[in-house]
Amino acid sequence: MAINKKIAAVAAAAALALTMSACASGGGGSTGGGSTDGSQASADCNVGIAMPTRSLERWIGDGEGLQQLLKDQGCTTDLQYADNKTDQQISQIQNMIAGGAKYLVITAIDSATLGQVLSEAKDAGVKVIAFDRLITGSDAVTYHAGFDNYAVGEAQGKFIEEQLGLKDGKGPFNFEPFAGSPDDNNAGQFFAGAWDILLPYVESGKLVVKSGKAPKSNDEWTSIGILGWGSDDAQAEMENRLASFYAGGDKVDAVLSPNDSLALGIEAAFTGADYKVGQDWPIITGQDGDKANVKAILNGQQAMTVWKDTRELRKRVALMIQQDLAGDKVETNTTFDNGKVEVPSFGLPVEAVTKDLVQEKLIDSGFLKAADVGL
Ligand code: BGC
Repeated sequence: MAINKKIAAVAAAAALALTMSACASGGGGSTGGGSTDGSQASADCNVGIAMPTRSLERWIGDGEGLQQLLKDQGCTTDLQYADNKTDQQISQIQNMIAGGAKYLVITAIDSATLGQVLSEAKDAGVKVIAFDRLITGSDAVTYHAGFDNYAVGEAQGKFIEEQLGLKDGKGPFNFEPFAGSPDDNNAGQFFAGAWDILLPYVESGKLVVKSGKAPKSNDEWTSIGILGWGSDDAQAEMENRLASFYAGGDKVDAVLSPNDSLALGIEAAFTGADYKVGQDWPIITGQDGDKANVKAILNGQQAMTVWKDTRELRKRVALMIQQDLAGDKVETNTTFDNGKVEVPSFGLPVEAVTKDLVQEKLIDSGFLKAADVGL
């Protein structure tokens, strides 16, 4: 077994070296094709990239950024977005397999419904890398790479705790929690990180959830999830809570928003309800460092975002493919049980960014351009 694997690895490395030298010398051959930069691509490095939606900034950056890195490595790529529709994503993945993909990089729309199509991938010898979101209930997931999701929620929870002075016994405060899309495996982990910090204050009455939408345990998070992570749905939900529970003049002091797309909608609801920055505007959290949200941080509407340097994630996934192709050991630093198998994973760190850190963390690092956020 081990020897066969080694032989296969050596053969793959030799094939890659050959392809690469053909590439460098401008040689012909017909092993690749499809590479839009005109270079000879490796037939083995044919990668399907299945992203959830173009409606969120981060997936555009991730899909296009990863595609470029892979092209630079000599790979053929097929990048598809599925408009947040699971059926569409499944048929895109089927087309990628039929089109000769050797690797699939997938950010699942629904973490639990890709089992069947991934079995097809496995039967066809295709390796599957779950990108950012773990794919559950399938033994066909080869690797995962993503961020420390629990730490995202923990940073949001700690921020609210500190800003309100909850540890010093301050309160009670009016507080409204939100959670991410119930079909996204990450969303439960974000919520758990935040709720482990905030639930004790809800239980002691220092955080008062007037809407009653306060899960009694981490497991109940889906009851307040916003399906599909839509800004409009988050806005409608916040508007409802304001109209139903705050009409008498009570004010919301803080909102747990798990990410930036929800935060945008929630902020729009407070603008609509005539809250004013510097007067009664609540503390609102976020995640991703999207341009519109960084602008909101600079103008005081959003208090923080949890920044995930997605450039590092793309580089990591491109490297995983390179290492796998070369027959090297694919570097990982953790594993996740996806309900079927232990998936080797590479986890990346996250960082809370407030107004005073925008320049240093987001602009100076090159993650965003100053002009993107009006600086
Ligand atoms: C990602 C977040 C993103 C959210 C909505 C999650 O799976 O980890 O970065 O904000 O999906 O797209």
